[in-house]
Amino acid sequence: MSTSLTTRRFLKTGAALAVALVLAACGKKEEAAPAAAASAPAETPPARVYVVGTDAAYAPFESQNEKGEIVGFDIDVVSAVAQKAGIQVKFVNTPWEGMFNTVAQGDRDLLVSAITITDERKQTMDFSAPYFDAQQLIAVKEDSKVAKFEDLKKLKVGVQTGTTGDEVVTKLIGKDSTAIKRFESTPLALKELESGGVDAVVADNGVVIHYVANNAGSKFKTVSDTTFTPEQYGIVVKKGNAELLEKINKGLADIKADGTYDKIYASWFGAAPAAAAASK
Ligand code: ARG
Repeated sequence: MSTSLTTRRFLKTGAALAVALVLAACGKKEEAAPAAAASAPAETPPARVYVVGTDAAYAPFESQNEKGEIVGFDIDVVSAVAQKAGIQVKFVNTPWEGMFNTVAQGDRDLLVSAITITDERKQTMDFSAPYFDAQQLIAVKEDSKVAKFEDLKKLKVGVQTGTTGDEVVTKLIGKDSTAIKRFESTPLALKELESGGVDAVVADNGVVIHYVANNAGSKFKTVSDTTFTPEQYGIVVKKGNAELLEKINKGLADIKADGTYDKIYASWFGAAPAAAAASK
């Protein structure tokens, strides 16, 4: 009795051992496989997804549609650039304030957000080649007497915090002036203009034109000014990320060369450049 039990136990243990040995052998084989592949030249690493930060409250460059998807000219440009560059991208809505830090800290790999290339910003981040020409533009109520930028000196002006619009208005009116009202988004500043909390808003021409055209009920008009200096948008990478920047610039050059850029441009702005539309 006890013998057969022992035997059975022995057999069981033996069987378990055999299974274990087979598993171990399999495991070894599996372990060995990557080692062999590593020395082989063409191992494809898992596709990396680059995270693109964008402040999606800036139509037609970036905004959220009814389904909550991030859409816009910038989105189409970066998607096309990524395709040419052979990289995968994912857009993540990112507030404008603090956006530049997200790329410095590595939470975002790229930023596309109608970001003007400036010397000051260039010290802390790297920009792609320019992909869009822009300029500041003033929005006022239809019955406003404002005819030029100087006229805003004694008025209340709304801007999006930390934008180039904020910069020009700050220069005109003074840094600490209470006449400047700073908002976390440009649509919020424009809403304030509608309700009469500010007398004017200064922001990028493409966005102002788009808003005025799509919000007839707001009864706004635009006022341009020749003293506004030309601006250009660039795609941002972390300072020193030359490898990614090169991919982006190459993709950008490719979409400009093969007509993809022009197609995207026409689909959002029509054939005429936004700058020409702004001076109408
Ligand atoms: N071009 C301006 C700047 O760079 C405004 C950009 C704001 N973009 C946005 N998505 N909110 O300062």
